[in-house]
Amino acid sequence: MEKIKNNIKEILKYGSPIYVYDFDIINDRCINMYKFKEKLENKLKIDVNMHYSTKANNNPNILRIVKDNNLSVDAMSLYELHINKKIGFKSSKILYVCNNIDEEEMKEVYKNNVLICLDSISQVEMWGKLFPNTNIMIRINPGVLGVGHSKKVITSGKDTKFGIIRDDFDSLFETVKKYNLKIVGVHEHLGSLFLDDKIDDYINGVRTFLEIVDEYFKDISIIDLGGGFGVPYKELESDLDLEKLSDKLIDVLLPFVNKHQSIKEFKFEPGRYIPCEGGYLIGRVNSIKKLDDIYWIGTDIGMNQLVRPSMYDAYHNIEVLNESSDKIIANICGNICESGDILGKKRLINKPKVGDNIIVYNAGAYGYSMASNYTGRLRPAEVMIRDGKVFLIRKRETIEDLDKNIIFERIYKL
Ligand code: LLP
Repeated sequence: MEKIKNNIKEILKYGSPIYVYDFDIINDRCINMYKFKEKLENKLKIDVNMHYSTKANNNPNILRIVKDNNLSVDAMSLYELHINKKIGFKSSKILYVCNNIDEEEMKEVYKNNVLICLDSISQVEMWGKLFPNTNIMIRINPGVLGVGHSKKVITSGKDTKFGIIRDDFDSLFETVKKYNLKIVGVHEHLGSLFLDDKIDDYINGVRTFLEIVDEYFKDISIIDLGGGFGVPYKELESDLDLEKLSDKLIDVLLPFVNKHQSIKEFKFEPGRYIPCEGGYLIGRVNSIKKLDDIYWIGTDIGMNQLVRPSMYDAYHNIEVLNESSDKIIANICGNICESGDILGKKRLINKPKVGDNIIVYNAGAYGYSMASNYTGRLRPAEVMIRDGKVFLIRKRETIEDLDKNIIFERIYKL
C-alpha cells in the first residue's frame, strides 16, 4: 500500500483506471506454493506439481514470476497455451484443463504435445476419434457439494456442467477402450475459494474423490486435486492456513499413496492465490451525489474493468486516497449504464472530492482477465512495482485497438 502511495504519480502516468501489481507479494505467494509442494513431496515421497491456473491473470510478467519459482501452469484456451509457451513453459509443465472444446482446439493441443484433461464422455469420444492410442486425463465430478465463494463457481455436486459422474463410468470405459486411450490421470476441482472454515469440506471432497479413484481407476499415475486456495477479501477473514491444509491433506493422501503403487504424481491448480493480493485497481472519482441518506460516488471503475462485484456480489475493500477525516457512507459505482454497476455498497470511506483517487484491493485475480470492452470502454494499462520502480507491463487499449478487427465497408447498397 505504501508502495502504491509513494508511486502514485508515476502509476497514473499510464492513465486511470489502472491495474497495479506488487512483484514482492506475488513472488511471496509463489514461494508459499513451492513450499507447499515441497512439504507434500517430502511426506508423500512422490512428485507434486503446482499448476498456476492462468485464467486468474495471464499477464506475461506474472507468468514469469510463476516460472521463475519453478511452478507449472494450467491452460484452458489456446491463447493461454500460446502465452505460456511464449514465456518458456515446456509442454511437460503445461496441463490443458478444458471444457466443451472443438476439434480444431484439440488438434492444436495435440500438436503442442500437452497433456489434456477431458471432462465429458462426448469430449473423450471426439478426442479418441482424432487421436486414438494416446494418453488422457479425465475430470470427475465426485458428486459431493463443492466449495466456493458463490454458486457460480462451485464445480462439484449436482448443479454443475463439469466432470463425469460415477453413473457414467461404464460408458466412459467403453469409449476409452474403443479408441485404445489410456487414462493416465484423474482430476477434480471442487470450486473456487475456500478458507480455513471450509478446509474440512475440501478434504471431504478429496476423500470422496479418492474413494472413487480407488474403486474405478486402479492403474493411473496422476491425481489432480484442482485449485480453490482462497485469500481473505474482508478484514475479519484470515489467510488460508497452508500448514493446516497440507497436514490434513497428508493424512488423507499418505495411506492412499501407500496403497496405490501406481501413483507417481499429485497436481494442484492454484489460480487466485498467486496474483490476487498483489493486485490493486486504482481509479478516479468523477462525480458525487447524495440521495436520501446515502452518497453515490461515481468512479471510472466500471463493471467492465472489474466484474466480480456485479457478477458474484463479491466484496473488495475500497479506500479513497485522501487524508480527509470526514467519513461518509457511500455506494461506490462505475460509469456503465447498468444499475448493477456497483463496486461497493454502503461503505464507510473518507469523503472524496471529484478528482481523488480510489484503490480497490485484491484485484490481481479475475480482475484484468475478466475485463471487457462493454460500452466501448478501453481496458486499462497494467503496471508492476519492483524494487521501488513502476514498470508498464501492458499498455492501455486505444480506440484504434478496438477498430482493428472491424470491417468498416458497407455490406448493402443504399
Ligand atoms: N482449476 C480449474 C479446473 C478451474 O476451473 C479453476 C477456476 C482453477 C483451477 C483455479 O481456481 P482458483 O484457485 O483460482 O480458485 N471468476 C471467479 C473464479 C472462477 C474460477 C474458475 N475456475 C472469481 O472471480 O471469483
